Amino acid sequence: MWEDSLRAVGAEPAVLSVEEYRARQQRIFSQLRPDDLLIITAPQESTRSNDVQYPYRSSSDLLYLTGWADPEATMIAHSEQGKWLVTLFVQPKDVLMEIWEGRRPGTEGAVAEWAVDCAESHSDLKSILDERLSKCTRVLVKTGVDYDIDEIVTEALQANSRARQRYGSGPISIEDPSRRISELRLRKSEGEISQMRHSAKVASQAHIQAMKNTRPGVGEWQLEGVIEGLFKYARTSGTAYPCIIGSGDNATVLHYTVNDDICEDGEILLIDAGCEYRGYASDITRSWPVNGKFSEAQTEIYQLVLDSQLAAIDKCRIGNPYDAPHEEARRVLAEGLINLGIITQTLEEALDPENGELKKWYMHNTGHWIGLDVHDVGVYRPDDEARVFEEGMVITVEPGLYFGSWRPDVECPPRYSDIGIRIEDDVLITTDGPDVLSSDCPKTIVEIEAIVGTA
Ligand code: GLY
Ligand code: MN
Ligand code: MN
Repeated sequence: MWEDSLRAVGAEPAVLSVEEYRARQQRIFSQLRPDDLLIITAPQESTRSNDVQYPYRSSSDLLYLTGWADPEATMIAHSEQGKWLVTLFVQPKDVLMEIWEGRRPGTEGAVAEWAVDCAESHSDLKSILDERLSKCTRVLVKTGVDYDIDEIVTEALQANSRARQRYGSGPISIEDPSRRISELRLRKSEGEISQMRHSAKVASQAHIQAMKNTRPGVGEWQLEGVIEGLFKYARTSGTAYPCIIGSGDNATVLHYTVNDDICEDGEILLIDAGCEYRGYASDITRSWPVNGKFSEAQTEIYQLVLDSQLAAIDKCRIGNPYDAPHEEARRVLAEGLINLGIITQTLEEALDPENGELKKWYMHNTGHWIGLDVHDVGVYRPDDEARVFEEGMVITVEPGLYFGSWRPDVECPPRYSDIGIRIEDDVLITTDGPDVLSSDCPKTIVEIEAIVGTA
């Protein structure tokens, strides 16, 4: 059905090795004290309706440190005689549950095939965790993820003074390990980059299929079906976030996800869609004319956004501050809007964060880190200084212009009424400059006009 798309995506990359997970764990352990206890939590399953669960998605930190994706899993790590030991709590083997819900690796499978030293049944979590907590002085845990663990840790802290009196031990402080883990997650390894490139390749083909199937009268939801269908067909786990498929004035709503309108002749269609492959997100936006031919006004805005995006991508270089692409995109967009007569201020005035007119039409940031989370972890301004790009970081570059005629807060220039354009790519920082992971997805006017409506 979509064999050409699969061929264009190419072979799936190698799965991440157990050694890679071990190395990630060691990078965290090297920052810890011998009497620390590290707990990596994951959300509990969530019920959709009677007997039906939402599809389970584990926490990105647990995926990062173990690769374990099934529900009811918790990782803990403690040090014994100078060696850090990882224990993973998992769903145990259970024939009846496996008949109903699917096969489980169980504790034996976990130890045999994952980067863990020991595995226990999740039903023994409380007793084993209580024991470990009584022996540590500091517990590193992110609260607010698994409320059962919050309760166990809080009780341990509250009981601490009594425990200290009796046993001379027990946790006395709690720290969120997220910052330490996010520093690691921010810089992607070769293995991770392969997964992300694959994710972006699949998402690029999904956009191409949506372009091919766009013609006046098609439903936004039908194109959503094409995109989600291809995500599954290519063996990803599906969308990394709800698809944004907005035609006409819907293209000017930044996070429009209703996707229930008909695409009409003369309108622009904006699609922001990415998939998740082995946990890794892609995030791509393209905007194209429903009838396959940009009007003059649409061309003016599209080319301006594309120019700003290309200029911003060129700023994705080692040593530049993370917001250099944003500042560059803003500058190019403001200059272009002044040239088109849409902004009557000077360039400096237009860029002013308080009174500048640019923000009427461009009101969001130009990018975010991307990885296991689509809006990935990583502090942008450590110690209030803009972080500079390093090799292995991946950031989106996604400028846009949105002329919503429905907006009561601005007077939309009639020539550009309901034109919404965003162009978004996923960019890897390398020693050779920006590497666009989503470069398979067409974005010049000529390329797009040659594809739209050809299915
Ligand atoms: N897809 C959401 C975003 O671009 O940030
Ligand atoms: Mn994005
Ligand atoms: Mn996006």
